[in-house]
Amino acid sequence: MDIPRVGILVGPRGRGSNMAAIARSGFADVSVVIAPSESAPAVQIAHDLGLAVSIVPPGDEYGSRLVEALGKVDFVCLAGYMRLLPAEVLRTFDGRVLNIHPSLLPKFGGQGMYGSRVHEAVIAAGESESGCTVHYVNDKYDEGSPLLQLRCPVMPEDTAEALAARVLALEHQAYPWAIELAAAIIHRRSESSP
Ligand code: GAR
Repeated sequence: MDIPRVGILVGPRGRGSNMAAIARSGFADVSVVIAPSESAPAVQIAHDLGLAVSIVPPGDEYGSRLVEALGKVDFVCLAGYMRLLPAEVLRTFDGRVLNIHPSLLPKFGGQGMYGSRVHEAVIAAGESESGCTVHYVNDKYDEGSPLLQLRCPVMPEDTAEALAARVLALEHQAYPWAIELAAAIIHRRSESSP
């Protein structure tokens, strides 16, 4: 089975740490990183890693411009990308769009749940464990089927920052593994279909 080619979508403020983890993992061949503007922090990191970057600002024909920039990738990976994807992208890459979220979905997901808000909510709810979820993307925030979760404890003395750092380390393991898993699932299905 070939290493899957992936296109990674980052947001305007994303740090690009999951993008970098995927690129360095050897589990995926990052064909393109798509950012809304040259000033997104992930763009400089992508350049430093020698990755191809395409700037695709939202606006007219956003879906078709994304599809064109993605080209012939096997998977689309959202990494710090906080918008709903245009239907055209979901149609073109049906079942091949993944996202990572810093909680054990379905808990602590949905619109507006990102960054420290997620970890603050986990601590406020008195949860004893948290983690991250890689899930398939559909037309709702954080609601697609989960593919892989990794868990960690929430310590009594945890601040949101401390918990975020523990979860982020898990994210960097989970995303490459999830891409490998998603590719294996598609490969297995294609072998067993008549
Ligand atoms: C990650 O923690 C990811 O789980 C989160 O954005 C961060 C991006 O960090 N995504 C969501 O909350 C999606 N709802 P990164 O730019 O360092 O990869």
